[in-house]
Amino acid sequence: MFAKRTNWNMTPNRLSEALAAHRAAGKPFIDLTVSNPTECGFEYDGAAILDALRNPAALAYEPNPRGLESARRAVAGYYADREETVSAEDIFLTTSTSEAYSYVFRTLCDPGEELLIPSPSYPLFDFLADIQDVSLVRYPLLYDHGWQIDFHALEQAITPRTRGVIVVHPNNPTGNFVKSSEMTKLNAICSARDIAVIADEVFLDFALDGSRAASFVANHGAPTFTLSGLSKISGLPQMKAAWLVVSGPQQWKSEALARLEVIADTYLSANAPVQLAIPRFLEERHGFQKQVMSRVRRNLAELDRQLAGQKAVSRLKVEGGWCAVLRVPATRSDEDLAIDLLSAHGVAVHPGHFYDFPHEGFLVVSFLTPGTDFSLGIANVLTVLGRE
Ligand SMILES: Cc1ncc(COP(=O)(O)O)c(C=O)c1O
Repeated sequence: MFAKRTNWNMTPNRLSEALAAHRAAGKPFIDLTVSNPTECGFEYDGAAILDALRNPAALAYEPNPRGLESARRAVAGYYADREETVSAEDIFLTTSTSEAYSYVFRTLCDPGEELLIPSPSYPLFDFLADIQDVSLVRYPLLYDHGWQIDFHALEQAITPRTRGVIVVHPNNPTGNFVKSSEMTKLNAICSARDIAVIADEVFLDFALDGSRAASFVANHGAPTFTLSGLSKISGLPQMKAAWLVVSGPQQWKSEALARLEVIADTYLSANAPVQLAIPRFLEERHGFQKQVMSRVRRNLAELDRQLAGQKAVSRLKVEGGWCAVLRVPATRSDEDLAIDLLSAHGVAVHPGHFYDFPHEGFLVVSFLTPGTDFSLGIANVLTVLGRE
């Protein structure tokens, strides 16, 4: 009686099972996979955050498919601080970046049509696509002293059914930003074929060298949807506040906005208290990002210090985001290695295949892990891998 699109394999993978067993046995472990910023020991201005949710204006219902204008103006202000011009009229508020993806997929794709996604990348895409009846086709990112888009493979992956190319800027977990030369090529490819660029910028503010990468919100060279939100920018995933910005050739943009307006009007999913609090929640990003960047830089320096003392493991170049990719000896599968690291040595890491790495020999660790744990966890990983 269920739709085929929900025929997912629900059996937990071996690593999840090992983690559940480890937890059930009450055994401690160092978690190098943490991604929930609210559980990583960062300080938030709790009083101000809660206070912002008590706005009396929330007692009135003011439905607007794009979301409350005050909130959209605050989002436009976030881009203005980055020296990018966005009109509040081109912004739709959503409850998550995932919801923004679903609006975009619904706007662009009929069932069975295709979107290109980078590989390696973030594992949620498969579910988002299944739910929207969209097929995903992967294009590789190549690593050669840094990550880059394999444009030859990307072009080969385009078929008459392709409706858009997703870029994650910077990508999770590889941490590479889309370079301006890559943006130019992407625009040429997409505009020539009438397909859209879909840019996920949730980690845009987290550049390791402190530089400010250009956002896709000001990209007019191709039909473009840019997605971001407060989960990462302000470290507030529980507030469910995100957005979608439309840019591109004027006539296409007007039509895209009109179609999105119908989708957004059908759900009107953003709630009033959170929308009214968005200006304050955006303020929170300054303190949050400072703490995150300081932890990421410290953990990266510690990782490099420990890596310098051995030869078995190296790390790939990282430009931004919250993760490091380790290249490890491929003497067994990454999943077997991750299970052994957890069960026998009390350290949780993500195997590369979780992020669709093309072959064995990669582990992903989170820089959000507090410093002492990070240092101990990495030391354990390197000791085990030194014996492989
Ligand atoms: C690249 C990327 N996009 C989107 C998200 C999810 O964002 P949201 O909480 O707004 O759905 C994540 C979460 O890890 C992510 O890594």
